[in-house]
Amino acid sequence: VQETTILVNDLIYPIFVTYENKSSEIKSMPGIFRYNIEEALDLSQKAKELGINAVALFPEVPKELKDERGSEALKVNNIICRLVEKIKINSPSLGVICDVALDPYTTSGHDGLVENGKIINDKTLDLLCEQALINSQAGCDIVAPSDMMDGRIKKIRNFLDQNNKQETLIMSYAVKYSSSMYAPFREAISASSNLGEDKKKSYQMDFCNINEALKEASMDIKEGADILLVKPGIMYLDVLKEVKKTFKHPTFSYQVSGEYFMLKKAILSGIFNEEDILLETSSCFKRAGADAIITYFALDIAKILKKGI
Ligand code: PBG
Repeated sequence: VQETTILVNDLIYPIFVTYENKSSEIKSMPGIFRYNIEEALDLSQKAKELGINAVALFPEVPKELKDERGSEALKVNNIICRLVEKIKINSPSLGVICDVALDPYTTSGHDGLVENGKIINDKTLDLLCEQALINSQAGCDIVAPSDMMDGRIKKIRNFLDQNNKQETLIMSYAVKYSSSMYAPFREAISASSNLGEDKKKSYQMDFCNINEALKEASMDIKEGADILLVKPGIMYLDVLKEVKKTFKHPTFSYQVSGEYFMLKKAILSGIFNEEDILLETSSCFKRAGADAIITYFALDIAKILKKGI
């Protein structure tokens, strides 16, 4: 009578890669590192061996390579492109997802261009298109715009198609709330902690809204999104369920860095049993309708599943 079964191929593993030679542990994410490129590659191989089908890549960019326009994001030999190429040589069948947004690369820490304290939506779109294209040309299977600018899915789809990349999928962060839960991630990628007045609230969603989530999702489907993402995860399962039920479109959920932090701290302090809590949270995502779950616990869950429940 069990209605939901979590499987290893429901999981997507996010990996942080750094330009530094040495990997370093992320303080607010115990057990998770910014990996140097070779270790990031090894880790993707490990994920593959455990039966995980896809990894999502995020860069930590050194200060000297950041600028106002996030120029490093558009360099064909940036760390993400180099890592994608290596992963694809090593494990061609492992799905690779690249984030499309400027925040790891901008001095402002914002996902888009900033002028006079305001995020400039339309000028940002051209840069996102270029970023998506170089990631796709490096070999990634899915580009994932997490920037929340309006109209970017249609523009990126057209741009990829014009450049012979019809087969690259788009996973849209269609429903991404402005959330305190991203704080450890921002530390992980050394993004600016000074976002100014905007705090991403002009482009990320208000956590009080759910009708708006349906509107965002429907626009992105019309614009050509192959997959929708709802984010954060555990506190937003009502939104996930509503989006999945309404559109019956592939819908993924992201158990974000703040959720990782809360659970990991409770596990480390012996309050939660690791195996029990990880099976419970991942099963709840699936019960709510997630077709896949992006989680920093992916390797741990895969190991538990391999051992047999
Ligand atoms: C930004 C981006 C963020 C995350 C993924 N992509 C942070 C933000 O919007 O500030 C957060 C993921 C996490 O917290 O695990 N493009």
